[in-house]
Amino acid sequence: MGSTPGHEGDGNAAQADRRDLLHRVACLGAACLAGPLTLAHGQGQGPLVAHAYGRTQLVDKQGRPFKGAQLAVGEPHIFHYPYETTPVFLMALPRAATAVPLSDGQKHRYESLPGIGPQQRIVAYSAICAHKLMYPTPQISFINIRKGQADEPAHVVHCCGDNSRYDPTQGGRVISGPAPQPLAMIALEWNAASDELHAVGTLGGEMFQAFFEKYEARLQLERGANARNRSAQTSVVQAASAFSRQLQSCKA
Ligand code: FES
Repeated sequence: MGSTPGHEGDGNAAQADRRDLLHRVACLGAACLAGPLTLAHGQGQGPLVAHAYGRTQLVDKQGRPFKGAQLAVGEPHIFHYPYETTPVFLMALPRAATAVPLSDGQKHRYESLPGIGPQQRIVAYSAICAHKLMYPTPQISFINIRKGQADEPAHVVHCCGDNSRYDPTQGGRVISGPAPQPLAMIALEWNAASDELHAVGTLGGEMFQAFFEKYEARLQLERGANARNRSAQTSVVQAASAFSRQLQSCKA
């Protein structure tokens, strides 16, 4: 396989991949995507399980299904989920993203989701920085995917705000900087036969309510009463370079 994951597999393998994917996305350990984020073993120390939101298909600007094969390795894309105003980074990595044990800012443990696609290289993360909630807007973005340094994976999520760096190959864990928790993961569903993608939930420390509170005035101005609308049945995917007019370069 070349450097653009997401091509169709053969029939039986594709079906097996699909079943495996659905199993992994729908059930994380013993806990399935069914309702709000819960703690499996009581407050405080139990593992986090995924938070199911609506099933939203990723589409291009013309409304056609967005395919995994359209993701070039290392080129960040943006869509919005689970709310119409909350941005997500979608990307294909040069190697598989693995499930690793993580914990959120409240010390709730969870196991990250592996990547999806034929080689488990497609991942999606909330693009709201876990430190002070910087996020990409159509005007400017201070948070983006950048090349990793020598001791890092090939690509990292880097927020210029205070130079937090996150590892997209390992559940968005914090590599360096002041961020107190990993980026929230977006659970994706991949159809091996059609190569189509759906967002179905989140996993990890969500920042959505803090985001709405911090940016309430701006979101009201831009979206009015629709600022907190859940994502519709489809969400448009765009290259990050096309989504924001200015991509702020970081010094670090
Ligand atoms: S807001 Fe992103 S590192 Fe501070």
